Amino acid sequence: MITGKTKIIGIFGDPVEHTLSPLIHNEAFQYLGLDYCYVPFHVKKEYLKDAVFAIKALNIKGVNITVPHKEVVIQYLDEVSEEAKYIGAVNTILNNEGTLKGFNTDSQGFVLSLKDEGILIKDKKFLVLGAGGAAKAVVYGVLKEGGEVYIYNRTLSKAWATKERFNNLGLIEVVNTIDKSVTERMQVIVNATSLGLKKDDPMPLSPELLLSEHIYCDIVYPETPLMKEAEKIGCKVIGGTGMLLWQAIAAFEIWTALQAPVEIMKKTLYKVLTK
Ligand code: ATR
Repeated sequence: MITGKTKIIGIFGDPVEHTLSPLIHNEAFQYLGLDYCYVPFHVKKEYLKDAVFAIKALNIKGVNITVPHKEVVIQYLDEVSEEAKYIGAVNTILNNEGTLKGFNTDSQGFVLSLKDEGILIKDKKFLVLGAGGAAKAVVYGVLKEGGEVYIYNRTLSKAWATKERFNNLGLIEVVNTIDKSVTERMQVIVNATSLGLKKDDPMPLSPELLLSEHIYCDIVYPETPLMKEAEKIGCKVIGGTGMLLWQAIAAFEIWTALQAPVEIMKKTLYKVLTK
């Protein structure tokens, strides 16, 4: 029930039709009996500035920011959190009585998805494939938790730029080529590229380079071909659904300052993904 007091939360993206965020958050608001409503806004690039201004003008409580606005949006905000500054991308905005603060909960989403599976990041060696926005969120999270990052990217210059960006947070090295001598030294392998999103995408790594002792993580969901291969090999496999869930949980807590109903949000997400 929308009332005169209902607080509005939104998501700005282009496209935005595919988003699962309204489902997860509205279910959580309802479960806790909170007078909040989460709605999608299809915001084209040329209207992003106006849309961000509208957060204040319309007294919207908060928004998620998704593709392709996560980086560009930063210039329109009043404050940006430390992790969002490092990563150079914002996926969550809080309207704190007219002051807009940007956060990046993708990074926490990745870390919490591993913690949820009982995996400790500290002192583990992570091979991170990719150097785009999602990869930077993964790198930040791993380094903050005391893991080591070895980064590989098709465009090598972007891997070097990522190393430069995060060098003072911990150990980060660039990997020029991946062979078994590299993967053998790793405990965790993360696909942080966009490969696996489209049906005929090549795999981001040859399955022959995986060992049964590896933890294989993918930021793409629900299941990529390499996840299936990794499972066959005997790896512990963590898909992108966890990251999606936990970034939503972190955003929920920023907007409401309440503890999120984790189990309800988890159940809602897994139900819609297995439909
Ligand atoms: P996102 O926000 O999802 O991270 P992005 O910033 O566009 O999206 O980054 C996409 C990542 O996937 C990049 O690391 C990209 O590699 P390049 O920097 O070389 O473009 C990687 N990627 C996309 N398509 C790829 C392909 N066919 N082969 C290898 N890497 C690919």
